[in-house]
Amino acid sequence: MSTLATVPVTVEEKRIARYRKIVFLTWFITLDLIIFGVFVRLSDSGLGCPDWPGCYGKVTPIGALSEIQAAVQVLPDGPVTIPKAWIEMVHRYVGALLGLLIMSIGILAWRWRGTLGRTPTLAWAIFVAVCIQGAFGAWTVTLKLMPIIVTIHLLGGMTLLALMTWLAAREKTHLPIQPQSKAYVGWVAGAVFLLFMQIGLGGWVSTNYAALACMDFPTCHGYLVPPMDFKNGYSVVRALGEMPNGEAISQNALTAIHWVHRNFALAVVAYIGILAWRLRKDPALRGPSNLVMTLLAAQFLTGLTTIFFQWPLLIALLHSAGAAGLVIATVTLMVRTAGIQPARRHGVANVMGENMNQPTRVVKYA
Ligand code: HEM
Repeated sequence: MSTLATVPVTVEEKRIARYRKIVFLTWFITLDLIIFGVFVRLSDSGLGCPDWPGCYGKVTPIGALSEIQAAVQVLPDGPVTIPKAWIEMVHRYVGALLGLLIMSIGILAWRWRGTLGRTPTLAWAIFVAVCIQGAFGAWTVTLKLMPIIVTIHLLGGMTLLALMTWLAAREKTHLPIQPQSKAYVGWVAGAVFLLFMQIGLGGWVSTNYAALACMDFPTCHGYLVPPMDFKNGYSVVRALGEMPNGEAISQNALTAIHWVHRNFALAVVAYIGILAWRLRKDPALRGPSNLVMTLLAAQFLTGLTTIFFQWPLLIALLHSAGAAGLVIATVTLMVRTAGIQPARRHGVANVMGENMNQPTRVVKYA
């Protein structure tokens, strides 16, 4: 079997190819960083280095060894240990690398805007988003894991992933969508909105450590609607584990947090599932639609397994990875139903095999 592929020959084509490589690499690192960020939280490493941006003011935990050892002597299983410090710092290093990559994309998108055939607006918006995300990363540490800050940090990561997916998806050639599919773009935007609400509610469960507040399903403490305290559960400005009046958070408040997330999931799964089922009839949308349906089922499964097996780390990680996958799949559907294709560049052959205005060298690979 042989495949035909085009290789970039002109300066413009090489630029486009280089730009795409950096965009796809950055998109991939964004996804990894979100999942690693969840691991930081689940392994209780969020305060592994209690200051910011350094670790006890040092660039790596090696320089801060004596401070870390002193903290371990006081509290051997406390928030500061050597592995936790490394986990936290690796998250910060990769975050900084991501920031640099996104800055490079912004610069290239501006310098090569003529060749790329697009304005650099989206690339710059992503740069602003990553700076805000960095600020929330810092406040996560300095405000001692305050639930609202950690939840916004999670939502910020997912927003960054959505924007990077948009940037990457518009560089990827796909079959033209059927004319009737365009009418669904508003519905798909609704799906992305609902998904983000569900992710926010899920973040609220995890940042308040309410994963095991209901251990039965579909009931909660034996009731379909158990006794709950919404006022304290959803009061947003308060410290971790406390109510606004400073008392320890009640079981009824944690139940409210958990119950809302699992029941709102029913509406989200129904809406997005039916939409994906309809969209999969269009061959250009079949891939992301199938991915959406598979991930929705997996999300239910990992959510329930988290409860029944009492919150195993791997399953909780998979639940968050599933949410990130849903962001990628639904945003891809949005880009496609909006009819966004790689830009047509005058006089530049598209290195991904799009219609060309100029001959490109065609290479045959065995
Ligand atoms: C579309 C469906 C769903 C989505 C998109 C979703 C998304 C999320 C997200 C983003 C988190 C936060 C993860 C983190 O911060 O690390 C979360 C937490 C959680 N979700 Fe869901 N979820 C869904 C459905 C469900 C269902 C059906 C259940 C259970 C019946 C469930 C149970 C949980 C639990 C127990 C947590 C806390 C996990 C932890 O603390 O690590 N979820 N969810």
